[in-house]
Amino acid sequence: MKAPFIPQNAPYSDTQRAWLGGFFAGMHSHMVRSAGSISPVDARTLHILYGSQTGNSESLANDAAARAKSHGLMPAVKSMDEVEIGQLANMEYLLIITSTYGEGAMPDNAEMLWEAANRDTAPRLDNVNYSVLALGDTSYDLFCQAGIDWDNRLAALGAKRLFDRVDCDVDFETPAEKWISEVIPLMADGATTVAVMDTETHTTKSVYNRKNPFPAKMRVNRIVTALDSSKETRHYEISIAGSNLSYEAGDALCVIPSNCPELVADIVKALGCTGAEDEPVNGDLMTLSEALRTHFEIKLPSKELIEEIANRSGDQELGGLLLSGDKDKLADYLWGRDILDLLLQFPGVEFSAAEFLALLKPLQHRAYSISSSGKKHPDSVHLTVASVRYDARGRGHKGVCSTYLADLVDENTDVRIFFTPNNHFRVPNDDSLPMIMVGPGTGIAPFRAFLQEREFRKAPGKNWLFFGDRNASTDFIYREEIEAMQAGGLLTRLDLAFSRDQEEKIYVQDRMKENGAELYAWLEQGGYFFVCGDAYRMAKDVDQALHDVIRIHGHKSEAEAVDYVNQLKKDKRYVRDVY
Ligand SMILES: Cc1cc2nc3c(=O)[nH]c(=O)nc-3n(C[C@H](O)[C@H](O)[C@H](O)COP(=O)(O)OP(=O)(O)OC[C@H]3O[C@@H](n4cnc5c(N)ncnc54)[C@H](O)[C@@H]3O)c2cc1C
Ligand SMILES: NC(=O)c1ccc[n+]([C@@H]2O[C@H](COP(=O)([O-])OP(=O)(O)OC[C@H]3O[C@@H](n4cnc5c(N)ncnc54)[C@H](OP(=O)(O)O)[C@@H]3O)[C@@H](O)[C@H]2O)c1
Ligand SMILES: Cc1cc2nc3c(=O)[nH]c(=O)nc-3n(C[C@H](O)[C@H](O)[C@H](O)COP(=O)(O)O)c2cc1C
Repeated sequence: MKAPFIPQNAPYSDTQRAWLGGFFAGMHSHMVRSAGSISPVDARTLHILYGSQTGNSESLANDAAARAKSHGLMPAVKSMDEVEIGQLANMEYLLIITSTYGEGAMPDNAEMLWEAANRDTAPRLDNVNYSVLALGDTSYDLFCQAGIDWDNRLAALGAKRLFDRVDCDVDFETPAEKWISEVIPLMADGATTVAVMDTETHTTKSVYNRKNPFPAKMRVNRIVTALDSSKETRHYEISIAGSNLSYEAGDALCVIPSNCPELVADIVKALGCTGAEDEPVNGDLMTLSEALRTHFEIKLPSKELIEEIANRSGDQELGGLLLSGDKDKLADYLWGRDILDLLLQFPGVEFSAAEFLALLKPLQHRAYSISSSGKKHPDSVHLTVASVRYDARGRGHKGVCSTYLADLVDENTDVRIFFTPNNHFRVPNDDSLPMIMVGPGTGIAPFRAFLQEREFRKAPGKNWLFFGDRNASTDFIYREEIEAMQAGGLLTRLDLAFSRDQEEKIYVQDRMKENGAELYAWLEQGGYFFVCGDAYRMAKDVDQALHDVIRIHGHKSEAEAVDYVNQLKKDKRYVRDVY
């Protein structure tokens, strides 16, 4: 069906016009309930704000919008950094969908609005009816904290909670869908609506996702650190030929791993089982060994398992740590201690196979920032992955997914993958603008993709890479490629920080500060500032260095430097992909 002609002089705002376009385009052959005297111009606007780091909340916000349309509402989906605090007071019907990052913190795009909402000057929200959907992961101490904080703050500012907050763990799809299906009718209740009589949505999503991953083949698995390096980083190329899948530089690839068979065997032995025991899992019967290999997280212990071991063992140290509520001390105790360590440490604690499985979390995918450009490599996706391997308590320990990729996948194995778009982390549309990229360690991954993208587009904009790792002789990964990019002029500037090549640590933020005047000049030229890699130490220190550079070289006060950085964030010129 052709979209109807909307006369230019019709009394619609831009938003309504855009919505009507989508509304009619989405109709296809669906029946439209006669609007009678109701004009679409009167339809109730449902504001849907998302706080999202890796796209899950953003995707759910779009799902909620599609559902809202089918209920005759006019959805307005916005990233939280597109909204000023003053606008919130006019959002009579409001959904907040947010994940939690860091340690109980807001995702980057929610930070500024959150800060504004907590100032004394924040407006009253007595006119606002809202509900919150919180995304998180119960393996973090502060589960869904950002969503909890928004829920409490909106209520404190006088907003009316129309529907209770729902907190979702990593398997968020089902509870999120339930929340959407229950909250939207409430938001539509009593509204003047224009209703389409089915609930079909029209967002285009990949057919491949967490529940239906694409079975891809590994084509390249190459160690890119030197053999005598203190770490092991690998370059992977995974074929997506024939899948109809595509990706953008900046996206992440999620890999669904299976567990190491030797670890499975050791756990089965520690449980005193044979592994052949039949166990019900998700409605199927499978052997204990197969269940442990493919369905459960068997490295990182769940809180429930730790508590149960503490209870059953009566161990004073572990019990004391749990009772004390001292999260840092507990984290120190648990650092690097896996499930097998706990079973071996407390041999007197016995579990039946079924009891044990009930205390495990489902095995989750791991995300990896893609290190290739989909334009240059449409048939493959490249990853740059540090293999997690360490010795502790007399045994070798391996990270589940990084060593699944390294050790367990060959060219005949299906690697189950799906993409997560990262719409805020993109090469600038304007090819002439400078890009500053800070990516030590595996943080280099998306910047290899960005540089390939710029090369493909023949973008004339300047490119500056800050890279670093432990030692230059062993850990300068992609050295030849990077030096060729520099020699060819694609990489305008390269600054390197090898932390362990000298007594004093040198990090990327030191190089930023050394080159502060030029860095500030690039920002003033409209430059974009990208950061990728470790969230907990590096990204915080780089953020501080960015503030320092702007303060010193922009001749600003601390408050002015904060404003400058906030403006960069608002303009989406300071974006991060940190983990
Ligand atoms: C958006 C996003 C993008 C990412 N991109 C990349 C990327 O491009 N490249 C990349 O390599 N990773 C990336 N990661 C991290 C990646 O998802 C995994 O977390 C990483 O590969 C480890 O997973 P694993 O399954 O191998 O280890 P897990 O089985 O999850 O084990 C990790 C755990 O092992 C323990 N541990 C690790 N090292 C030690 C040690 N030395 N001593 C004691 N204990 C230790 C810690 O408890 C740690 O939490 C990204 C993460 C996100 C969220
Ligand atoms: N949250 C997470 O789970 C998380 C976050 C990041 C990385 N990782 C995992 O850790 C493994 C290795 O990661 P990686 O190769 O990306 O990086 P990495 O080995 O942790 O570090 C890369 C470089 O960054 C330096 N560095 C350390 N602290 C820094 C700071 N405060 N500021 C700036 N630089 C700092 C390191 O120096 P020194 O080591 O010499 O101090 C090293 O030179 C991977 O498995 C990765 O997935 C996990
Ligand atoms: C580095 C990192 C830190 C996280 N911190 C928390 C946390 O403190 N609390 C929590 O409940 N979830 C935490 N999560 C889980 C995310 O909130 C969860 O994966 C969510 O689905 C991400 O949604 P998004 O893609 O919209 O950002 C963290 C995830 C990562 C990768």
